[in-house]
Amino acid sequence: MTTTEEIHLVRRPRGVPEPDDFAHVEASVGEPSDGEVTVESLWMSVDPYMRPRLDSDQPLDAPLLGGGIGRVVESRHEKYREGDLVRHSAGFRKRFVSNGKGLSLVRADPQIPLSVYLHALGGTGLTAYGGLLDVGALKDGEQVFVSTAAGAVGSVAAQIAKLKGCYVVGSTGSDDKAKWLGEELGLDAVINYRREEIGPRLAEVTPQGIDVYFENVGGAHLDAALPRMNVRGRIPVCGMISTYNGEGEGVRNLFSLIYGRIRMEGFVASDFAHLNAKFVEEMSAWVKAGSIKYQETILDGFDRAPEGLIGLFRGENTGKMLIRVGE
Ligand SMILES: NC(=O)c1ccc[n+]([C@@H]2O[C@H](COP(=O)([O-])OP(=O)(O)OC[C@H]3O[C@@H](n4cnc5c(N)ncnc54)[C@H](OP(=O)(O)O)[C@@H]3O)[C@@H](O)[C@H]2O)c1
Repeated sequence: MTTTEEIHLVRRPRGVPEPDDFAHVEASVGEPSDGEVTVESLWMSVDPYMRPRLDSDQPLDAPLLGGGIGRVVESRHEKYREGDLVRHSAGFRKRFVSNGKGLSLVRADPQIPLSVYLHALGGTGLTAYGGLLDVGALKDGEQVFVSTAAGAVGSVAAQIAKLKGCYVVGSTGSDDKAKWLGEELGLDAVINYRREEIGPRLAEVTPQGIDVYFENVGGAHLDAALPRMNVRGRIPVCGMISTYNGEGEGVRNLFSLIYGRIRMEGFVASDFAHLNAKFVEEMSAWVKAGSIKYQETILDGFDRAPEGLIGLFRGENTGKMLIRVGE
């Protein structure tokens, strides 16, 4: 028996989570039995989807539901060897024993940093790729709007659209992020929705309307995009972060769907398992060539996971928010 560390939810948040909703807890961890491995966490992913879960799905006084990348340090499982790198969804635990359920090998390209397998080459990248190309049925040269365009999913979606020759508008909440989107990622127009009124500004920068709105925010963003949608436009609904803390404005313009013959469709990353092989091949090449750029906001230290999660709702990340636990 040895010890591990865990991040627990100890109180259900009201609105934006607060540090005292969480606790950093020491716990014991046993030795692996036949068919089991011990994994040590290297990187943990903090994601907006975790917030709605805190209201009911996430048990109290138990490790936060979430995932990351770790290293197998002991194996009695036929599929894994000591030293293997694995993706897991075992929750926010520094060290844990697993029977292999929810684990998958990370076959990392030596030219690509491991952390990238938690974003551009991981779940958020696949979400952007499948959401835009499959659900959004993006065609070359179309008019595209991406919200939270400087975030993990949004920055990849916006760049894929640029690679497909589209006119791309992004929204974000800070001047620094807007600068990155415009100057480095080459977006055609960027809206800082905290400084500019989203509706009039979006109308101004979409003179040819919007064919695909990659929806990450909901509320006022969705309301602004709906009247700008072209006939037969598509709204792949990836997320609605402005509503996750029980805040946000109602949407008034849904009637635009009717005469616009607009298709609005939600999805989750796991819907795109059939695209994964093509995604990994294309995205690895894009990342290595620098045609998909990325940023990471890295917090060092296992105990900083709550800070990372809270930071997502304050816009403290550019690109992917990550917790570095080890190397
Ligand atoms: N469907 C799926 O399978 C799936 C998978 C992954 C993510 N998602 C969704 O995709 C969206 C982006 O996720 P991500 O992981 O890439 O996170 P992210 O965009 O890297 O981080 C969250 C960002 O959201 C913005 N934000 C926070 N509160 C906001 C508000 N009230 N209004 C507008 N923007 C706000 C902030 O950026 P600003 O500074 O720009 O405001 C913040 O940095 C989320 O809605 C998430 O739930 C869905």
